[in-house]
Amino acid sequence: MTSRLLFLLLLGNMFCEAFGTNHFILCENSTIHPMCDAGWIIYVDSADYGRHDSTTCSFGRPPSELQNTSCSTLADVVAENCTGENSCSITASNDVFGDPCVGTFKYLDVTYECTFWFLP
Ligand SMILES: *[C@@H]1O[C@H](CO)[C@@H](O)[C@H](O)[C@H]1NC(C)=O
Ligand SMILES: *[C@@H]1O[C@H](CO)[C@@H](O)[C@H](O)[C@H]1NC(C)=O
Ligand SMILES: *[C@@H]1O[C@H](CO)[C@@H](O)[C@H](O)[C@H]1NC(C)=O
Repeated sequence: MTSRLLFLLLLGNMFCEAFGTNHFILCENSTIHPMCDAGWIIYVDSADYGRHDSTTCSFGRPPSELQNTSCSTLADVVAENCTGENSCSITASNDVFGDPCVGTFKYLDVTYECTFWFLP
């Protein structure tokens, strides 16, 4: 039984390596629907809502909303919504994550994998 689980874990990791880890940036107030192929589940590696440079999600925004590049909050709710699911819905907004830096236009930076199995 244990070796079977290990095998699935290995297979899941091989799949991820073959297709790469998924990464996306979602600008404030937009929504995305991450998903894995049928039979696979999402595992969220990291999720951060804030701003770490002045160029990402900067189109059409005034400089004043881009100048604070050390704005960050752990977006744990992404994992709560998505880890273990085949697909999910994520909205990058202050309503969902709180506002870590008022007046800055923020983005959500998420890395996730598609896997068979994950260690809790
Ligand atoms: C995001 O949406 C909320 C609610 O509609 C709105 O109050 C806010 O001004 C929007 N933020 C930006 C940066 O557009
Ligand atoms: C998580 O799901 C709930 C219910 O569907 C939704 O209201 C919430 O906005 C979602 N969280 C994120 C981070 O999008
Ligand atoms: C950026 O925002 C954070 C969080 O509000 C704050 O602690 C920090 O002082 C701000 N940095 C600048 C340069 O304004």
